[in-house]
Amino acid sequence: MNGPVPALAERAGACAERLRGADSVLLLSHIDADGLTSAAVAASALSRAEIPFEAAFEKQLDDEAIARVAATDYSTVLFTDFGSGQLETISEHEERGDFTPVIADHHQPADADTEYHLNPLLFDIDGASELSGAGTTYVLARALAETGTSDTGNEHASNAVSADGGSVGETTGTGRGSGEAGTANRDLAGLAVVGAVGDMQAGVEGLTGANEGIVAEGTEAGVLAETTDLALYGRQTRPLPKLLEYASDIRIPGISGSQRGCYEFLSDLGLDLEDGGEWRRWVDLESDERQVLASALVKRAISRGVPASRIDELVGTTYTLPGEPAGTELRDASEFSTLLNATARYERADVGLAVCLGDRAGALDRARRLLSNHRRNLSEGIEWVTSTGVTEEEYVQWFHAGSEIRDTIVGIVAGMALGNEGIDRDRPIIAFADESEAETKTSARGTPALVRRGLDLSAVMADAASAVGGGGGGHDIAAGATVPRGKEEAFVAHADAIVAKQLG
Ligand code: C5P
Ligand code: C5P
Ligand code: ZN
Repeated sequence: MNGPVPALAERAGACAERLRGADSVLLLSHIDADGLTSAAVAASALSRAEIPFEAAFEKQLDDEAIARVAATDYSTVLFTDFGSGQLETISEHEERGDFTPVIADHHQPADADTEYHLNPLLFDIDGASELSGAGTTYVLARALAETGTSDTGNEHASNAVSADGGSVGETTGTGRGSGEAGTANRDLAGLAVVGAVGDMQAGVEGLTGANEGIVAEGTEAGVLAETTDLALYGRQTRPLPKLLEYASDIRIPGISGSQRGCYEFLSDLGLDLEDGGEWRRWVDLESDERQVLASALVKRAISRGVPASRIDELVGTTYTLPGEPAGTELRDASEFSTLLNATARYERADVGLAVCLGDRAGALDRARRLLSNHRRNLSEGIEWVTSTGVTEEEYVQWFHAGSEIRDTIVGIVAGMALGNEGIDRDRPIIAFADESEAETKTSARGTPALVRRGLDLSAVMADAASAVGGGGGGHDIAAGATVPRGKEEAFVAHADAIVAKQLG
């Protein structure tokens, strides 16, 4: 394809051809924002190409999950946002003739390969920061459009969709971009960007590398806008005082975490703070009002001694989806991705997928209810970790949440807690949570600075886990594993030794 990632073009074309030749496809994806948007991009592209498919999700693509796939009648399986790390098992099944895998992933590949394997890491593109699972799937979608004979929208989109094995019947209209004839799937770039942002690929400077090509195509297609704006989470939906109070990335003394401080700060600005008895949100402000608020915030940060480098981060590159209503989670890539995590990480991937595919009635309402639950869990989790504290080893720090934090969000919590009081950003954090009677989930998170010094958490989690009889993988900056119960401390010891070598 001639799209955003030329180096991937040929492989994407081959994968697309293979999919075209299939009678039907099992589409299997990961249960997070990037996995859901990957599934949505793939589902839209498959239905537009009139390739019948069924979509399903897995929390972890372990040997059992792959065996379940092998047991189905599907002879073509499209894995999105996972698969590369499990290539050894997948290719064993392929050799046995169980199915032909097509993989669109960005995780560190295992020691095996297969013909239809699309992964930026195979082409010198950084899978942790330059292309997400959804971005990789977007590249595939573009190739599918190019080999396609029709771009007729979504008449064939009512495929059965099952989440975590449970059939939920029909996918309601794959509306987003439905009938976007002529865009050659470029209208799916918005979802690809939501996936990249959900995987934390956008820094203050925005998306970089191969992701920039997707941004350019999405902008041209009118589904995406890149702007420089206040870099606080919640510009679309949070009432102004909450926008400031909850901003955790950049702490401003007297404002962050202080309800009273925020009211006082806002009251002194001379802005209309309410409209019809409701707090206004950032999105409700006129541009001159935004200027007033942003300048006052910078001034306050300076006067309270926030370092200049952090103050610079108050304003950054942000992504909005202009086709979505202003003031909703869907309008902002970051808020959209949180909404999706709130569904899929709670066994409701079907809800998130339906939202991605354009369901704005029932699914969006359900997603919003799940979101308030997710938010509460995140803030309680961060509070728990910060007050309980972490154990410091020489090179890593860790905590075991037991059943206090859900295994599917313990990694997000660990990442958000990094930098809080008592949890330095100068060493990676390893988190544990109960996964089942016999197994413990572990998640690790680092920082860009640590990665620059040589940290590769993907190798840490894979090697430390296999040393104690578990398995794992991921990215240099964020990775995870599952280990047998009782092996946590041994795992930490292995991880500490591996990190020592990497940073040594
Ligand atoms: O499986 P997947 O690649 O989609 O998950 C990536 C995970 O890694 C996400 O939970 C994301 O938040 C985390 N991550 C991170 N910081 C980065 C890159 C990824 O916390 N810079
Ligand atoms: O689960 P968590 O959010 O910690 O995952 C971080 C990253 O590690 C994700 O990209 C996930 O896909 C990957 N991971 C993995 N193998 C595991 C657990 C997580 O590759 N067993
Ligand atoms: Zn991903």
